[in-house]
Amino acid sequence: MTQPNEQAVMTALSKVQEPELHQDLVTLNMIHDLQISNGNVGLTVMLTTPACPLKGQIENDVRTAVMAVPGVQNVNVRFDANVRADNRISGRLNLPIKNIVAIASGKGGVGKSTVAANLAVALAQTGASVGLLDADIYGPNIPQMLGVAEMPPPQDQKLVPARAYGLQLMSMGFMLKPDQAVIWRGPMLHSAIRQLFTDVAWQEVDYMIVDLPPGTGDAQLTLAQSVPLTGGVIVSTPQDVALSDARRGLSAFRQLQVPVIGIIENMSYFVAPDTGHRYEIFGHGGAERAAQELRVPFLGRLPLDPRAREGGDEGTPVVISAPDSEIAQAFHELAKQLAAQVSILSFRPDPELKII
Ligand SMILES: Nc1ncnc2c1ncn2[C@@H]1O[C@H](COP(=O)(O)OP(=O)(O)OP(=O)(O)O)[C@@H](O)[C@H]1O
Ligand SMILES: [Mg+2]
Repeated sequence: MTQPNEQAVMTALSKVQEPELHQDLVTLNMIHDLQISNGNVGLTVMLTTPACPLKGQIENDVRTAVMAVPGVQNVNVRFDANVRADNRISGRLNLPIKNIVAIASGKGGVGKSTVAANLAVALAQTGASVGLLDADIYGPNIPQMLGVAEMPPPQDQKLVPARAYGLQLMSMGFMLKPDQAVIWRGPMLHSAIRQLFTDVAWQEVDYMIVDLPPGTGDAQLTLAQSVPLTGGVIVSTPQDVALSDARRGLSAFRQLQVPVIGIIENMSYFVAPDTGHRYEIFGHGGAERAAQELRVPFLGRLPLDPRAREGGDEGTPVVISAPDSEIAQAFHELAKQLAAQVSILSFRPDPELKII
């Protein structure tokens, strides 16, 4: 009987495409630990994110391709993940941070902080190493949303991020007294934000989620001038005006040459807990239409759920306090979509970095 060899298996795998990166698994160097013995094949697929939404499809495609190699009787597919570092960041900042994702909006109060906190926790639950940075210098409320009042004492002249729900967490809120109002002048704001990256002892972060203050333009500008960004996410509500708000948020990112990862529609609908009836309080599909018109990915929608607000007020994000709720499930799905888009971005060439 034919014994399959490594070359035959690798040739078969070189015909399997990574569905989102549109290259084959061998070219992408995703096949590791290939072992073959007596028709039994074992291998590890090294994903670009542990939050890969298409893991099931990749597993099926790999299995089908390898089983078609003459002599193969059994395939054991294992998964591991290694998040790629954005070379814009690694090339310019000497920090253990692979990707930086800004959460912004066209206007205030649409749920940026709620989305940032829950997305960060959902991403961490996939096994990724996640940082959450509250860059809302004026009204930092991430500490309250995650129930963390203070950060640990500094070590070796560096601030130490707090830990909550598997995240590393840093906020200007840790440095201010409660109810203290701050007035920042431009240069101070820049250096304050930059210090939240550079003066903190971050430990190997795959995804740094940055919650921006309300207001288009300024906040995005300050952040983008302080650190290189992998991409920006726009949170919007579904009203028709959301379209113009989202457009402003997007154009601010584009002017700053920050790739747009996608749009999230928050407070999209409400399901009455007693009747199960779905109410579209703010209309339907504004953000999705905006995404289509502006040709950026639509990452998904989140329902209105009082538990999201209660969780935020009490310091337990809804993905923890009500893990089976529709909104928690939606956050898990969003986390995968976000991670997939970041993987796609990490494969694009950097026009400013010359490869020699
Ligand atoms: N999907 C949701 N369901 C119910 N309440 C929500 C939802 N999303 C956000 N909220 C609530 O709406 C309020 C505003 O949300 P959040 O603070 O996250 O918005 P923001 O965009 O960060 O605001 P700001 O612009 O002031 O920073 C909060 O009380 C929050 O708990
Ligand atoms: Mg906020």
